[in-house]
Amino acid sequence: MKIKNKFYIETMGCQMNKLDSDLVIAQLSDDGFDRIENPDDAGVIIFNTCSVRQHAEDKVLTKVNQFKKRYQQHRDVIIAIIGCMAQRMGQQLLDENPQVAVVCGPGQLHELSDLIQNAVASLEDEHQKLAPQSEGRRKKKANPQRIVSLNNPEQQELMEQLDSTRTHRDFDHPFMAYVRVMKGCNNFCHYCIVPYVRGREYYRPIENIVDECKRLADDGIKEIILLGQAVNSYKYIEKGKTLNLADVIERVNEIDSVQRIRFVTSYPRDFDYRIFEMMAAMPKVCSYLHMPAQTGSGKMLKAMNRHYTIGRYDEIIEKAREIVPDIAIAGDFIAGYCGETEQDQQQTLDLIKRVRYKNIFAFFYSPRPGTKAYDKFEDNVPMEIKKRRLKEILDLQNEIAAEYNQNFIGKTVEVLVEGPSKKTKQNETADSNHIQLTGRTQGDHIVVFDGTKEMIGTLKNIKIEKTTSLTLFG
Ligand code: SAH
Ligand code: SF4
Ligand code: F3S
Repeated sequence: MKIKNKFYIETMGCQMNKLDSDLVIAQLSDDGFDRIENPDDAGVIIFNTCSVRQHAEDKVLTKVNQFKKRYQQHRDVIIAIIGCMAQRMGQQLLDENPQVAVVCGPGQLHELSDLIQNAVASLEDEHQKLAPQSEGRRKKKANPQRIVSLNNPEQQELMEQLDSTRTHRDFDHPFMAYVRVMKGCNNFCHYCIVPYVRGREYYRPIENIVDECKRLADDGIKEIILLGQAVNSYKYIEKGKTLNLADVIERVNEIDSVQRIRFVTSYPRDFDYRIFEMMAAMPKVCSYLHMPAQTGSGKMLKAMNRHYTIGRYDEIIEKAREIVPDIAIAGDFIAGYCGETEQDQQQTLDLIKRVRYKNIFAFFYSPRPGTKAYDKFEDNVPMEIKKRRLKEILDLQNEIAAEYNQNFIGKTVEVLVEGPSKKTKQNETADSNHIQLTGRTQGDHIVVFDGTKEMIGTLKNIKIEKTTSLTLFG
């Protein structure tokens, strides 16, 4: 029996994972696999996983379980778990889920295609050699696990090659590409698993970053999103001079066919205000800042091991607004962290009101094994209180966003047109000369409007007529 050379990939978690999935898609496509949208028709199913909250991990295990029966009955599928959960759990995933054939952490992605091909070969061998009565016998696995320390230089060199030699072959966002400027994180916020599953900070050579952007631009990419867990911590020594994120932005800005540059996520420390000046002066540098606060309480910030004060956070925001008055600001919050009181919660709500975010990502605290908070602090805010506080945060933000968006009515915004809107996609008979389109503003607002196919991939000025808390209509 031949295992189908079609793969399905599902990506959870942050933009780092989305970028990794893009690299995997390119790697497997180069090696003769075809990407498809329906896992039931695929011979290879890949889950790119996130460990940041328990819920994210539970979801993966549920999905993996859905393929257990198919695997046991037909032995016609290779299931691979990659990403942060693979790094965190390693062998345990193989031991507890017999249908899983490959586990590969973020530091070994360059080997994924080989691992998958190995697994395919051994499953095909098994079909050839073994009689039906052997059904249920555990299949032989050819080194199915690749988890290594993320911090040794050799490893980083191999990963660097994977990033720098990639080809653009992504179907989900044809005009936008993520580009890593750094890997890992050194901040060790007490609640966070990321430093354990992504390793210490490693800064890519600036020339590699810029070369990669140039190649992507030649392939038709219009928008570059520079990525790092604390992207503004980037530093790199070139000819004795220390360069930072502002220098990366400046050089990417020089690439002619790049039309937009963004960067995520910023950590509220060591912020080089040159970046805001670039937003104000350079049309391609988007007026957008994603800078998580996590809480509005100074006491909670300390308990989280965030290395800044609320005063400092406010100061960066003030500076941003002073230099770039129309800047869109996004943030993250955690509700119900260990020891959080109603007073702390009130300070969080106050901060949200002060900053007037464009949008926020908020979650209730989820203890992660291996982190300091898990080992040392009691998860002592009851679930119903966590949920109530989370709801207060989200409700407040919804109000702010609805109000904020109303200010756009009657204004003209510049939109990078991404493609047909959801409504157009559902309606297959739509006239391609006149369709509903969707795109984004510099501030990452989603805009829905009527237009033609030819507008896709270009910048257009759209007049806003109507808004909701999530979308602008023009
Ligand atoms: N590097 C980014 C965030 C990466 S994790 C930064 O520091 O800005 C994305 C978000 O998940 C965090 O900002 C935080 O709000 C949330 N998060 C991380 N660990 C969490 C946990 N244990 N429980 C709940 N939310 C968590
Ligand atoms: Fe996690 Fe903190 Fe690093 Fe962000 S800065 S990835 S929250 S440890
Ligand atoms: Fe999740 Fe890993 Fe990103 S834990 S948030 S996918 S770095």
